[in-house]
Amino acid sequence: MRVLGIESSCDESGVAVYDTERGLLAHALYSQIEMHAEYGGVVPELASRDHIRRIVPLIRQVLAEAQLKLTDIDALAYTQGPGLAGALLVGTSIAHGLAFALDLPLIGVHHLEGHLLSPLLAEEKPAFPFVALLVSGGHTQLMKVEGVGQYTLLGETLDDAAGEAFDKTAKLLGLGYPGGPALSKLAEQGDPTRFTLPRPMLHSGDLEFSFSGLKTAVLTLVKNQPDDKQTKADIAAAFQEAICDVLSSKALAAMKQAGVKELVVAGGVGANKQLRQRLNEVAAKRKAKVYYPPLAFCTDNGAMIAFAGAMRLQQASRSDSFTVRPRWPLDEPQKSA
Ligand code: KG4
Ligand code: ZN
Repeated sequence: MRVLGIESSCDESGVAVYDTERGLLAHALYSQIEMHAEYGGVVPELASRDHIRRIVPLIRQVLAEAQLKLTDIDALAYTQGPGLAGALLVGTSIAHGLAFALDLPLIGVHHLEGHLLSPLLAEEKPAFPFVALLVSGGHTQLMKVEGVGQYTLLGETLDDAAGEAFDKTAKLLGLGYPGGPALSKLAEQGDPTRFTLPRPMLHSGDLEFSFSGLKTAVLTLVKNQPDDKQTKADIAAAFQEAICDVLSSKALAAMKQAGVKELVVAGGVGANKQLRQRLNEVAAKRKAKVYYPPLAFCTDNGAMIAFAGAMRLQQASRSDSFTVRPRWPLDEPQKSA
């Protein structure tokens, strides 16, 4: 079965074709980052308009790369939520239009399910059950994953997401949007021991997170320290260190609680080198193994949506209802109506 997947939940238009026998055939992405950078964050209306411009050409590109015609596609998958309602409606409308015209089955995919299953696109894949650490711009969650569609929420952030903390801290340090990659680059030149930042909820005894206090602590530092490049790099390094400490310690605790030895890291912050290194170190000490999606599929992309859609369709799920779900808990993946 060949599934065409469309992602349009935020500021990336992504399209891919996944074949359940041959794997990923082609994928293409258009990032709107440059357009939003000027405003310091995503402008929802501009995002929707740009998805409209990009998605059909991306579909053409992907089909050409895979040497397929539209009629070679067997099913459509699109991001149904969570995300920006107007942006979601673009991918949803295109997928529904194609499914109607070609008389094909279609499935609305949960964006986080896409991220969560994306490590299965790598050559070295985890086996179920595993714990997933989902760290994106909008979510920070630990889930126990027992199979496709079998997700139990173990803990999540009470306030800001990890990616959001990276973005807001980067803004405080005068770095551009999106802040995560810029902050992590600056941190490479910094000394993480010069400043000590709090590790919120590190010893809370549960699997919840909180990152808004960390951002406030950075604000205090920025106000009270000299405004030179080295100080900024040292603050960035201290911030990254604090986030990595909390995420790695809670991820390990979640694996212990769930009784599994495999951890999957997904979402944009999963691209962070320092986090990867830290997770690999702590996991190795416990003889556990960490799996990551291929780097290109850490941040938003169409491949993860085509893949998650294909897995769902193989389970005979489909959803013909034309709704988007801007807010959608992952432990209720297919209850849309
Ligand atoms: O998964 P994603 O592409 O979009 C959402 O679904 O939110 O994640 C985007 C987030 C942004 O907050 C971005 O700053 C962060 O992931 N991010 C990073 C890195 N690359 C992206 N954060 C830290 N280090 C990175 N290398
Ligand atoms: Zn995402």
